[in-house]
Amino acid sequence: MSYYMNNVVNALRVSLIGSSGIAVLLSGLLYFKQNEIIYPRNVPANARSLVPQPEEFHIPSHCADEVYIDTPDGEKLHAFHIRPANPARARNVTILMFHGNAGNIGYRLPIARVLHDELACSVLMVQYRGYGLSSGTPNEKGLNIDAQAGLDWIRNSQELRDTKVVVYGQSLGGAVGTGLVVRAQKEARENEKWKGQIAGMILENTFLSIKKMIPSAFPPARYLAPLCHQIWPTEEMLPKITDIPILFLSGLKDEIVPPSHMRTLYEICRSEPKVWHELPEGTHNDTVAEPGYFQAVDDFLRTYVCPTKGRRWPA
Ligand SMILES: *[C@@H]1O[C@H](CO)[C@@H](O)[C@H](O)[C@H]1NC(C)=O
Ligand SMILES: *[C@@H]1O[C@H](CO)[C@@H](O)[C@H](O)[C@H]1NC(C)=O
Repeated sequence: MSYYMNNVVNALRVSLIGSSGIAVLLSGLLYFKQNEIIYPRNVPANARSLVPQPEEFHIPSHCADEVYIDTPDGEKLHAFHIRPANPARARNVTILMFHGNAGNIGYRLPIARVLHDELACSVLMVQYRGYGLSSGTPNEKGLNIDAQAGLDWIRNSQELRDTKVVVYGQSLGGAVGTGLVVRAQKEARENEKWKGQIAGMILENTFLSIKKMIPSAFPPARYLAPLCHQIWPTEEMLPKITDIPILFLSGLKDEIVPPSHMRTLYEICRSEPKVWHELPEGTHNDTVAEPGYFQAVDDFLRTYVCPTKGRRWPA
């Protein structure tokens, strides 16, 4: 979710109280406009045309490829493939990154920079359909296809196919990633070739389901939850994962997704090992900037996925 949604919610909240006429209007709005609310890809205003570039965040050009990933249903997804900064200590890990619901992948490059530099990982940042320079319009079915297309791109990449993949999702991206891991786990059981390819998952400030977001993010619309056609049922999907290490990163000051959602996800997770790490001062969109965040990711990777060859992070 996003600060944009928060603004929409606040604006609507004021006009809603005690007015059933407006509630009827709202139910129409919620039904027909929910994709605009759930996937605010035009926020900020230039997010569809201006995607910040790796060089702007001091990721050298030899470490960054701009790629276009074709989906089986005809979309072209804009993505960045970022290589480890120092090949000598490269980790045998590709972080497959799924972003939150606003902006575009360019805004998340500072995260990729830490992952490729300090944590010595490869990164594939997939930009969902309808976001940034990717074609199409977002919806649940489409984003699930996009996630698979990202994994398939790694599988077809000479450079990345023999690395351990760690699926990393922030907010909505956690729902996207969880669904992908459930399907990949099934695939790996049926086909020896994919066994062990997904070696971990990292979830940050993600929600139980869109429906369960409504009472907190949108109290006046509580009774409209049945109209919600974008489901994102992470609460149902996550317990299907059984044998993949999972790191839960929870900002306790998240003002958009109640931190209780993350806690419940951790509790219902049946996969082992599972690691809980909370950021006491983390709000929805700045948890990633809290002290200890990347240390927790590094510890998780080192302990459960793959060590680096070089010095411990941080130096
Ligand atoms: C995070 O959200 C706050 C409002 O809640 C906003 O002022 C700030 O710009 C946002 N930061 C990012 C990086 O989007
Ligand atoms: C990297 O990980 C893959 C997948 O687990 C494994 O097959 C491969 O041997 C590893 N490569 C190195 C250099 O450790």
